[in-house]
Amino acid sequence: MDGSAAAARRTGPSPWLDIPLDAYEAHMALPEVGQAPMLADIFGALLREHLPETVAVLGCAGGNGLERIDPAATSRVVCVDINQQYLDVLRERHQGRFARLQTTCLDIERRLVLCEPVSLVWAALLFEYVDPCAAMNRIAHLIADDGILATVVQEHDTDRPAVTPSPYTCLEALAPALRHVAPSRLAALAAGLGLYEMRRQRVATAAGKHFTVQVFQRDPVAMDPDEGEA
Ligand SMILES: C[S@@+](CC[C@H](N)C(=O)[O-])C[C@H]1O[C@@H](n2cnc3c(N)ncnc32)[C@H](O)[C@@H]1O
Repeated sequence: MDGSAAAARRTGPSPWLDIPLDAYEAHMALPEVGQAPMLADIFGALLREHLPETVAVLGCAGGNGLERIDPAATSRVVCVDINQQYLDVLRERHQGRFARLQTTCLDIERRLVLCEPVSLVWAALLFEYVDPCAAMNRIAHLIADDGILATVVQEHDTDRPAVTPSPYTCLEALAPALRHVAPSRLAALAAGLGLYEMRRQRVATAAGKHFTVQVFQRDPVAMDPDEGEA
């Protein structure tokens, strides 16, 4: 199943509203899943490379990777999720660590995040659960002129179930909602909004599941007011 063919917006409530955070986090940390440490490592590397003053984490769950943000470099952190309970736990964990921590509960497909644009937008394993076009339209508003957007999507693999089987069986409810998004589709959507893909990298968990990391930034030519003048 490829998300490029199935971009219809969700009509019912998100299945994420019924997934307890402790089950999700325990599943992601299992050695046979291993996605939580992998995502945190990628985020950590981006933070070290770009030293962003401001960061937005979209589809943040309980804040995997936030511990990698250096409060001396990053003063404002915006965390967005559709599940308020996840945000409550995140706030308990990270309250007081940053000069400003904003937690916002909304459906990124449908609503704009109201805040000043940020230097680094991190959206890991979010696009699989949203209409990529609607979400990218909203997300583009969040990226500062000199900022970047970094995404991670799971690769389509006919030999493996999209949601790895685990003792946390409640996560199986996510499988019907998960739609793989081709990296080329994300790149095309971003390009339509003046964001060009500066890097693409394939990564794998120790268990052998593959993911694509993409980094986008505003197209300097599109931003140049003198471009096209005689
Ligand atoms: C697969 S998890 C990824 C979590 C996190 N990025 C990580 O590193 O573990 C997807 C997250 O996106 C959130 N989410 C799903 N649909 C959303 C939507 N339409 N708007 C905002 N958040 C959403 C879920 O609640 C969940 O926390």
